[in-house]
Amino acid sequence: MTTAPPRRDDIHSYEPRLGHGLPHDPFNAIVGPRPIGWISTQNAAGATNLAPYSFFNAFNYVPPIVGFASIGFKDTVRNVQETGEFVWNLATRDLA
Ligand SMILES: Cc1cc2nc3c(=O)[nH]c(=O)nc-3n(C[C@H](O)[C@H](O)[C@H](O)COP(=O)(O)O)c2cc1C
Repeated sequence: MTTAPPRRDDIHSYEPRLGHGLPHDPFNAIVGPRPIGWISTQNAAGATNLAPYSFFNAFNYVPPIVGFASIGFKDTVRNVQETGEFVWNLATRDLA
């Protein structure tokens, strides 16, 4: 005779394509706290831009890789596309 595994009410899993079934999307809180970064960029004309990003981290040591993810095509991404450059500024706790 097989027994069903014990039910765990403290575990919640979901497939994003099927929805999470919760009042608020849990994804933003699953990995936290996250470092906050200010991504500074310039557009092709040299105008400066500074924006906060929390999907932001150092991803590798050698070679050094830093990055951020944008939810949608924002000014920061457009500037990076225009110039090929951004500066990754790690916010200090008081400024965060
Ligand atoms: C603390 C904090 C973290 C944020 N993290 C992100 C992020 O990871 N990705 C994102 O697309 N937007 C994030 N945002 C929202 C952007 O900062 C916001 O959309 C901003 O207007 C983008 O500026 P830009 O159009 O100059 O790039 C965050 C905002 C705050 C206040």
